[in-house]
Amino acid sequence: MASYSLSKSWQSSPMGARVIRLFLGVTFIYGGWNKATDSGFLDPKSAHYIGAQISSYLTTSPISFILKHIIEHATLFGWLVMLSEFAIGIATLTGIALELASLGGFFLSITLWLSATWSVKPYFLGSDTAYAILWLALFFLVRNNTKGRRVTALLPDLRDRREALRIFGIAAASVAAVFAGSRFRTATPTPETGTAIAKLADFPIGSTKAFAAADGTPSVLFRTKAGVFAYSRVCTHQGCTVGYDAKSNLLICPCHGAQFDPTKDGAAISGPTKISLPKISVAIKGTDIVQI
Ligand code: FES
Repeated sequence: MASYSLSKSWQSSPMGARVIRLFLGVTFIYGGWNKATDSGFLDPKSAHYIGAQISSYLTTSPISFILKHIIEHATLFGWLVMLSEFAIGIATLTGIALELASLGGFFLSITLWLSATWSVKPYFLGSDTAYAILWLALFFLVRNNTKGRRVTALLPDLRDRREALRIFGIAAASVAAVFAGSRFRTATPTPETGTAIAKLADFPIGSTKAFAAADGTPSVLFRTKAGVFAYSRVCTHQGCTVGYDAKSNLLICPCHGAQFDPTKDGAAISGPTKISLPKISVAIKGTDIVQI
């Protein structure tokens, strides 16, 4: 039967591993808390929505072929990321299934590097590479520390009732943390109706600009000879964020290729949807372009 002691889990770690454990454990719990308290993270209408974030990585990420499938289940994926960050952070601080948590942290950091921070150049300015290396270092520090003294199994032995209970405790604490975070949700500050989206003088005819609408919806503003107009960038197929392609003068969805014509009221002209992009009402007021 595997015995467990919180203090022993720290005492048996070399000093270097303790420093890394403390930093990574606290940071991952903080990362989970940040998402759990963000009212937009799981809201498809928000510019912070996990699906919108993933959409914005599609053009640069080397794993875009995987991200395209994840986008279709973006909300579920968002839940998984939040729960994983809490579970990995708690396991790291408590020392329960520490090696498995280290590998989990490593794979999560590598995934974030290949998606969220892949376009950060030079690579050392993106933090996910450093996290990945810290997790890998922690894994080997913990593994080598136990070498020769006892054989540790990478996977927890769930036939051992106490070990199963400890793992269940981490899962329950992670779920509780997500729900606790949801009680502290703060609305994402978004511009109010009437707030300037752009200065007319800085936005000549032919200009395009991405912005967040008053309710947080990722949107895009155009100015042509006909005036100013704007659309939601949330694809009417499955909610990916469309991008403006200056060559074709179309709004194109990176997920399944839907194309929308901004000069024809945002009409869907090809791809798996027939529904136009919703219009966002904008107007010129004095020297500004505002949402009305
Ligand atoms: S989400 Fe499928 S085409 Fe945009």
